[in-house]
Amino acid sequence: MAFRNDQVSERETERIVELAKSCLSISGDFVELGCYKGDTSLLLAEIGKKLWIYDSFEGLPEKSEKDFSVVGESFKAGELFVTKREVKERFLRAGLKVPVIKKAWFQDLTEADLPEKISFALLDGDFYESIRDSLRLIDGRMVPGGVIVVHDFKNPALPGVEKAVLEWNKDKNLKIEVFESMAIIKL
Ligand SMILES: C[S@@+](CC[C@H](N)C(=O)[O-])C[C@H]1O[C@@H](n2cnc3c(N)ncnc32)[C@H](O)[C@@H]1O
Repeated sequence: MAFRNDQVSERETERIVELAKSCLSISGDFVELGCYKGDTSLLLAEIGKKLWIYDSFEGLPEKSEKDFSVVGESFKAGELFVTKREVKERFLRAGLKVPVIKKAWFQDLTEADLPEKISFALLDGDFYESIRDSLRLIDGRMVPGGVIVVHDFKNPALPGVEKAVLEWNKDKNLKIEVFESMAIIKL
């Protein structure tokens, strides 16, 4: 199935799907924190693993001071607004199993909102605190052989993403592979 996506490039989308498919044979569900309209979620759902997707469904939050970019002012609070119902309906229209869809700010989610085991995680919350909170939530849930993809890691307009990942990785020292704007971390 092909979907148009205005947030993730075609090459990035192909890589995300390829990486997620590489996790099919290991235990653990798929998660996407920051699903927006569900363009990538629909492709992840097709793969066949249980999928959990999360979003404020109120658009982006306020930036923190770590997000201010020399590249210019974009990505404002409230942008990228979509309703949970719209996203759910896209799955139904596509004839796909509806994932677990949680409406919440990431900072308000607890471990109980996440699957016990995660094999593939796509983190796409755009801002420092959103990525920091996403990493906190999936920490300890990723299975060996699992993959974390962080979108916008190398996006100069969203510098908070890289900061959050590097802080999280400081003591872990995991290898970070870069593909286009994305960080790929294999456990
Ligand atoms: C770039 S979009 C995601 C695009 C999507 N992954 C795709 O592939 O089409 C970012 C999404 O993250 C959500 N988001 C960002 N920070 C958040 C936070 N702290 N809590 C909840 N949702 C957040 C926004 O509402 C927005 O829908």
